[in-house]
Amino acid sequence: MTARINLPTETDAEMTIRLLQAELEATNREVLALTVELESRVDERTAELRAAQQQLQKSNADLVQLTLQLEDRVTRRTGELQKTRDDLETRVQERTKELQAVNQELESFSYSVSHDLRAPLRAITGFTELLSQDYAAAMPDGARRYVEVIGQCAVRMKNLIDDLLAFARLSRQPMAKQLVKVSELVSEVVQELRRDQRQRQVQVRIGPLPDCEADPSLLKQVWINLLSNAFKFTRGRDPAIVEIGCRLDPAEPVYFVRDNGVGFEMQYADRLFGVFQRLHSETEFEGTGVGLSIVHRIVQRHGGRIWAESKVNEGATFYFTIAAPPQS
Ligand SMILES: Nc1ncnc2c1ncn2[C@@H]1O[C@H](COP(=O)(O)OP(=O)(O)OP(=O)(O)O)[C@@H](O)[C@H]1O
Ligand SMILES: [Mg+2]
Repeated sequence: MTARINLPTETDAEMTIRLLQAELEATNREVLALTVELESRVDERTAELRAAQQQLQKSNADLVQLTLQLEDRVTRRTGELQKTRDDLETRVQERTKELQAVNQELESFSYSVSHDLRAPLRAITGFTELLSQDYAAAMPDGARRYVEVIGQCAVRMKNLIDDLLAFARLSRQPMAKQLVKVSELVSEVVQELRRDQRQRQVQVRIGPLPDCEADPSLLKQVWINLLSNAFKFTRGRDPAIVEIGCRLDPAEPVYFVRDNGVGFEMQYADRLFGVFQRLHSETEFEGTGVGLSIVHRIVQRHGGRIWAESKVNEGATFYFTIAAPPQS
């Protein structure tokens, strides 16, 4: 006989619960699988990031190393450059001292030579005068002419020596700088020149001239020499025009004297500032050729510069700078 077991029948609710549980389990499994996959991707990503970070750290370290090396090289190079500059400065100072000593020696040499030459020259002039006074009648015409030429040459030599002495004295003269009213100084010089050369008709145009820091008597000599040249080398011009002004360059004022005179060839422009250097003959324009060397020396002693521009027959312009007064 077969036993019959009566299994209780599943209610709908129970079935629904079972189905739901099964679904939940399936969902759980899916979530688990997804979580595992996600975790593995996170691990992968983390590993990648760590590798990238390590790479970055390494690059950073390399960069720091490179910067340090560079800094080291720059420091070394700066040190070397500083040393070269110091060496150069020392050498320039030494050279300047040597040059100053040589200059001083030369100046005192030319001073004593020109000083000592004056006495014998006075004797030549005196005896030449005596010769022509006392023996003129006894001399043939030719001899009288020779004596006359000797006298003229002695006068010229006296002028040369006097100018050379003035030039040599210039370096010995101590400088006393002060604020100079250049406008007033220039008007004074122009008046003096006009007074000395009443026969000349020169149109003088004076522009604004800023004050400067200089030794007044030396600066006056600069203007006298430049302006007397401008007056001299415009002789024969009608009208003779002399223009005085100042170009206000940003760095420093540049004073200038311009004339419409005979001018000169620019290739000789630098020579003009040497002692006894002349570009015009003595018969055409008198002078010993010392004026501009005096100007050059004075400007140099003031820490300034001087230069000239010209064209033959189209006038000349002389420019110079002098230290500007300190700004108040
Ligand atoms: N304004 C000028 N125009 C043309 N030439 C000039 C001018 N100034 C100077 N020179 C030239 O430069 C030369 C040198 O000038 P510097 O003033 O030294 O001598 P100088 O005038 O001949 O004689 P010194 O001034 O000693 O009486 C002159 O002989 C002349 O040839
Ligand atoms: Mg002159």
